[in-house]
Amino acid sequence: MPDADLAAEVHHSGGSYPVVAGWGTIDTLGDRFTDLGLTNTAYIITDSNVMNRYARNVQRALQKRGIPAHIYIVPAGETSKSFELAQSIYHWLAELKAERGHTIVSVGGGVPGDLGGFIAATYLRGMPFVQVPTSMAAMVDASIGGKVAVNLPQAKNLVGAFYQPKGVFADVQTLSTLGKRELAEGWAEAIKHGFILDASLVDLFEEHAEALMDNEPEIATEVIRRSMAIKANIVSQDERETLGIRILLNYGHTIGHALESSTEYGQYFHGEGVAVGMMGAATMAQEMGLHSQEIVDRQRRLLERFSLPTAAKGVPVEDILNGMSLDKKSQGGSNRWVMLEDVGRAVVRSDVPRELVEKTVRDLTG
Ligand SMILES: NC(=O)c1ccc[n+]([C@@H]2O[C@H](COP(=O)([O-])OP(=O)(O)OC[C@H]3O[C@@H](n4cnc5c(N)ncnc54)[C@H](O)[C@@H]3O)[C@@H](O)[C@H]2O)c1
Repeated sequence: MPDADLAAEVHHSGGSYPVVAGWGTIDTLGDRFTDLGLTNTAYIITDSNVMNRYARNVQRALQKRGIPAHIYIVPAGETSKSFELAQSIYHWLAELKAERGHTIVSVGGGVPGDLGGFIAATYLRGMPFVQVPTSMAAMVDASIGGKVAVNLPQAKNLVGAFYQPKGVFADVQTLSTLGKRELAEGWAEAIKHGFILDASLVDLFEEHAEALMDNEPEIATEVIRRSMAIKANIVSQDERETLGIRILLNYGHTIGHALESSTEYGQYFHGEGVAVGMMGAATMAQEMGLHSQEIVDRQRRLLERFSLPTAAKGVPVEDILNGMSLDKKSQGGSNRWVMLEDVGRAVVRSDVPRELVEKTVRDLTG
């Protein structure tokens, strides 16, 4: 029987996997693991916030189908994406005599997702891996596409791999315990997906902005599925970010990342930085004649309905410009900008005049 909750299939060099979003999906995990043949012991990696809310339920759902499940809890927050914690988890797995046919399961946001994936990619040279994302960022972005990593003091995500999961199972109900600001910053990434690749998704956001901020089951689940499908489609075409397709997901990220790092990750959530960055990129594209002012205004109106920032008043211009020069996606010293040609159609441009970049950042911050 077709799976009504299936958002997409990701196809990659080693096979394919389902990306699922539903309401109450956690309760179905025992069956889903069994369907995928993942009936051996599971090792759940979660964080201290998600543990009692959701990871216990994941454990119960697996145990009900006879799948033994252990849990490792890391402290909530980005600092847990470290080698030190990875090492502690390796020791834990060794003590429990984990085998190559057992399964690593990440339950939580992008931090347990990236960390659990890194463990799965490396312990015993690779173990089956499943993502159960519970934050918006993890559902529509981090859990799909197989990028796994830990941070070094020098920079985030410096050590990692492309390691695809066996399945991604999102329970949209879990988003009900996120704060409004966390929910909105997650929607920023999904809105971004619409602007770069799917004009009808932007229409949906415009029709249902308030319902989405209330996490109304039917519409929230549908929009998350659509957004997951966009990411799944892109990574299926460009598994290892070599073909210039996956980079489109970076719309808004050049200024966004620089804004996050120049404010030392304390002032702007990732999705908020992306929202400001989307406005910068749209303004520049309009100046370069790629699209009309109407698109800039439409994007601004939509982001504002999700209470997302569209400017970064007071942040020093130089700090943002310096941050941009460290962008990992730059080539030969110049930034590659993802810009819209229309709603739902994006391109990459490396010929944005320096003066235009500086003027745009000045306007965003002034
Ligand atoms: N691998 C990728 O392709 C990729 C893509 C984007 C981001 N990332 C990574 O993802 C991380 C950011 O993701 P994130 O924002 O999910 O981080 P996170 O895992 O730290 O989650 C953010 C906070 O939300 C809490 N949380 C998660 N689900 C919750 C829920 N349902 N209810 C209440 N609280 C909940 C967490 O405990 C945490 O405190 C970064 O490390 C980033 O590098 C990876």
